[in-house]
Amino acid sequence: TPVPAPDLTSCSKSKINRDEEVPYLCCAPKPDDMSKVPYYKFPSVTKLRIRQPAHAADEEYVAKYSLAIRKMKDLDKTEPSNPIGFKQQANIHCAYCNGAYKIDGKELQVHNSWLFFPFHRWYLYFYERILGSLIDDPTFALPYWNWDHPKGMRFPPMFDRQGTALYDERRNQQIHNGTVLDLGSFGDKVQTTQLQLMANNLTLMYRQMVTNAPCPRLFFGAPYVLGNNVEAPGTIEVIPHGPVHVWTGTAAGSTLPGGGRSHGEDMGNFYSAGLDPVFYCHHSNVDRMWSEWKAIGGKRTDLTQKDWLNSEFFFYDENKNPFRVKVRDCLDTKKMGYDYAPMPTPWRNFKP
Ligand code: C2O
Repeated sequence: TPVPAPDLTSCSKSKINRDEEVPYLCCAPKPDDMSKVPYYKFPSVTKLRIRQPAHAADEEYVAKYSLAIRKMKDLDKTEPSNPIGFKQQANIHCAYCNGAYKIDGKELQVHNSWLFFPFHRWYLYFYERILGSLIDDPTFALPYWNWDHPKGMRFPPMFDRQGTALYDERRNQQIHNGTVLDLGSFGDKVQTTQLQLMANNLTLMYRQMVTNAPCPRLFFGAPYVLGNNVEAPGTIEVIPHGPVHVWTGTAAGSTLPGGGRSHGEDMGNFYSAGLDPVFYCHHSNVDRMWSEWKAIGGKRTDLTQKDWLNSEFFFYDENKNPFRVKVRDCLDTKKMGYDYAPMPTPWRNFKP
């Protein structure tokens, strides 16, 4: 049986970890009648939104993007329960991933299984449309953090300007000095040159996209169906998706700016990850890897199981209307109205 959209009427507190609760409620605003929430239909697409690599963005784009995020953040002050506000949008991740929703008596978790790619694709789909509508630009597209290319293996500079809407205080301080990301590391540092690190990253990308993911089961992760969730994430979800989160967040156990002990905030914990604007840029590239993986060909195709195709999520659109969406409707980005600006994928030549 596929996983249905969560029932918001039974939403409760989320957990930061086994012993600590998130101090606020992450539940989405409840629609008047949950049973009447319609299925989403795509608005007609006149022009595709083209997602560009973040490191190459020009000032005009950065200004537009930060204005959109600024407007989203302003909603938090004037209408805290507006579902398209910045915090409400971040709370979507917190609710879906930290145990706020129960399905069939069990906590819903959209990570570590085949729900990972489709959930985040739909999440970004609406987020992007909300940003575009806040600045009246129907072609607005999110940037992607091009960490699979040497030019994108550092923190994207547009997010590192203090005082702007794209900045987040609760990040790893290493970010400021232009360190090269280690796509395979969950915290330990290996002594190596930047050049060697980039080469290692490319080899790693080859491994996760090609060698270790020859078929859908290994790329997407294990089935997640009602009553039976084996936790087994797909190749890209583990690496590099996980390390990029951990690298960007503050070190667990350190003191947070503003006080308190860190649980990896913001990017390094599910409940807070969406509070860092770079989250959506990171996930844009994760999403792009789904398209790139299919482009390699062979047995690299979408899953065909009905339990996957008919799984559902719940989201608000840019007009604050609630919808149910199905996995089967998110398999083609062009049909959804967006695509990725082509970028070379040098890792394809990095067979170990
Ligand atoms: Cu839902 Cu990158 O985590």
